[in-house]
Amino acid sequence: MTARILDGSKMAAEIRAEVAAAVKEMAASGVRPGLAVVLVGHNPASEVYVRGKVRSSEEVGIYSEKHTPPESATTQDLLDLVADLNRREEIDGILVQLPLPSHVDAKKVLLTVDPAKDVDGFHPMNVGYLSTQRPGLVPCTPAGVMEILKRSGVPVTGQEAVVVGRSDIVGKPVAMLLLNGNATVTVCHSKTRDLAEVCRRADILVAAIGRAGMITGDYVKSGATVIDVGMNQVTTRPEFDRLFAGNKKREEAFQAKGSTLAGDVHPEVASVAGAITPVPGGVGPLTIAMLMANTVKAAKMRRAASNFDLRASSNQVGVGP
Ligand code: GUN
Repeated sequence: MTARILDGSKMAAEIRAEVAAAVKEMAASGVRPGLAVVLVGHNPASEVYVRGKVRSSEEVGIYSEKHTPPESATTQDLLDLVADLNRREEIDGILVQLPLPSHVDAKKVLLTVDPAKDVDGFHPMNVGYLSTQRPGLVPCTPAGVMEILKRSGVPVTGQEAVVVGRSDIVGKPVAMLLLNGNATVTVCHSKTRDLAEVCRRADILVAAIGRAGMITGDYVKSGATVIDVGMNQVTTRPEFDRLFAGNKKREEAFQAKGSTLAGDVHPEVASVAGAITPVPGGVGPLTIAMLMANTVKAAKMRRAASNFDLRASSNQVGVGP
């Protein structure tokens, strides 16, 4: 058996088209959602991500601006910048790209972002909304994981879901979304005993560890849905061979670039799982698409604040408030 490949690029394109339609509709009433991205210093990976975020905004018709304080920026400089963005009416979403330089108090900066403009969903207010099933802004990658499951027709209710990784950005919010979706959720981490055995219980296995190819075939129940959130650069020959020996396309790319992008899931899992997300082209593209969706959602929520109710609801992903 070989697993069904869940095409994140295709789903992301669908979501961008939906967001573009929503932006067009808002334009008819004179509203243009606006996103401010803050990139401190010159982290190469962050620069690539931010470029993608700005390009995608343009594509769907969202106004965007990029702020690039120098590496030497202080916590106070960033607090001042965020306070200014909080005040500006035309800015609906504020995203502070992580990681911040080590001399900056990142938690303090993130706490200063207006929760109504927190399109990353990192503010404790939004974390609380998510855990108490109130409408709010949900972190983009976890929201993308749920969209993949939904758009692929993978049931969540009553299913055994195992999340490997407990980061504030991915593991914890994914676990919360799966729980809100009525899955039975187990969260694993580096201290978990018998990790492979726990993972084999999963109908839905989410790998968000940050170690290339760690989830091998013996971690996966036959027919399970496997969502790979890993984004790891493989740069050494032994590691390349462990993951991609005999893969001609990968070999060419590796020879040309000296590196290749690998997920947390070993390619051999494709012969055990029922469905699997590829890397690249799985969860990654959804992250930016959900940022666009979150920006539109923030724009709508801020304008509808007065008739916005706080009933428990399932509208924590997607475009609508
Ligand atoms: N750095 C890596 N992932 C993310 C993310 O989702 N949001 C932000 N702001 N920074 C990141």
